[in-house]
Amino acid sequence: MAKTISAIRGTQDVLPGESYQWQYIEKTLLETASLYGYKEVRVPVFEQTDLFQRSVGDTTDVVQKEMYTFDDKGGRSLTLRPEGTAGSVRCLLEHGLYNEALPVKACYVLSCYRYEKPQAGRLREFHQFGIECFGAPESSADAEIIAVAHHAFERFGLKNIHLEINSIGCPECRAKYLEALREHFRKSEADLCETCKGRLERNPMRILDCKSPICGEIAATAPKMIDYICDDCRAHFEGVKTKLDAMGISYTVNPTIVRGLDYYTRTVFEFVSTEIGAQGTVCGGGRYDGLVEEMGGPHLPSLGFAMGLERLLMLMKAQGVPFPEDKKPELYVVPMGDAAQIAAAKYCEQLRREGFAALTDLNGRGLKAQMKYANKLNVGYTLVLGDDELSAGKANVKNMATGEQTQVALDNLTEEFYKIVMESAFDAMEVSVNDLGK
Ligand code: HAM
Repeated sequence: MAKTISAIRGTQDVLPGESYQWQYIEKTLLETASLYGYKEVRVPVFEQTDLFQRSVGDTTDVVQKEMYTFDDKGGRSLTLRPEGTAGSVRCLLEHGLYNEALPVKACYVLSCYRYEKPQAGRLREFHQFGIECFGAPESSADAEIIAVAHHAFERFGLKNIHLEINSIGCPECRAKYLEALREHFRKSEADLCETCKGRLERNPMRILDCKSPICGEIAATAPKMIDYICDDCRAHFEGVKTKLDAMGISYTVNPTIVRGLDYYTRTVFEFVSTEIGAQGTVCGGGRYDGLVEEMGGPHLPSLGFAMGLERLLMLMKAQGVPFPEDKKPELYVVPMGDAAQIAAAKYCEQLRREGFAALTDLNGRGLKAQMKYANKLNVGYTLVLGDDELSAGKANVKNMATGEQTQVALDNLTEEFYKIVMESAFDAMEVSVNDLGK
């Protein structure tokens, strides 16, 4: 046999037996966002490298160390998106969406690419669900986007996800803070990693989220932005807290949250779990009031968040929250002989037109092997179709759970099968209603 090729380190396959879980979480997240007025956008997987350098920021770990950047055959520098906000802002500007009624609310499910050291909950290709709310300056918008994530976690039945919030101020109040930070880091400049030495003058806030343990230690005693925010930023932050309180969403103020991307202003937040290991941040986001303007658009205070779907799934499994069951095929038609195979193809196609998942033999197998296959697929019903059944125009539908057989007329198969399925659903309901009475 030829040598097989394995998947790239830090990437994951979703297997046929698991994909229903992904479909469920994506559908639930999109539905939850739609309750708040969000509509899906789909943006390209690669963009001009410049887009991420300018928005995510060229002193961030993401841009300096983690981007998948390459020249295409035309010599253009392209980058696989490391996140969804930059592409969404580009899309907003390119299509003039900011001319529509504000706020413009967009959500997405997308794959992202970061060259990070793979470990549990940290991948090189991962998936995000995110929302972006463009043109909403008030603190009620901050509280509302947090509510979207909170609501989604509640719909999944998740518990113990802690919301941590902070304010990292605006460019005006931040200038004073950056000076205080520089002063702090200058004292230990020699111990900083090479990347952080370069960040000291240009963007000392980035040292706060450096992954090197020594930089982390030095950062632990650094001054906190929350102690430097101006009156307007403080009033905004108080507004966010009041609205979260009113919505019954609990949180802690964590002054060490700064987020790893450059575009944030004022509110930043993370939803964190302790149940999935070191990579416990399931969702992160915040306000980015200056980004749209910096990217060449109008002044448009905006905000959003993204959650990592692999981490969300890990948490759901860790907490054992129920997933809706994967849909089982309703009927497996077992053809015996050439004529029956042709008839089976016809009947299955009729059943599928009515919404039934109807399967049949594609391998020329005998009765026993087909029944074994049907059992493995966990089908609800089987129907054996041989020459006798074809000439009589009748066959038996067997309920695989109870063994009960019901005769059906083949020329009326779809309708009669529908009746069988409905009757058994009613029987099951009666059983559970009777159970209720006990
Ligand atoms: P982020 O914090 O870089 O923010 O990523 C958001 C979430 O994506 C994280 O909380 C985590 O759950 C997941 N994530 C990040 N990196 C990885 C990885 N290597 N492997 C697995 N999961 C990962 C953003 O991306 C911002 N664009 C969020 C945002 C939207 N802010 C405003 N709007």
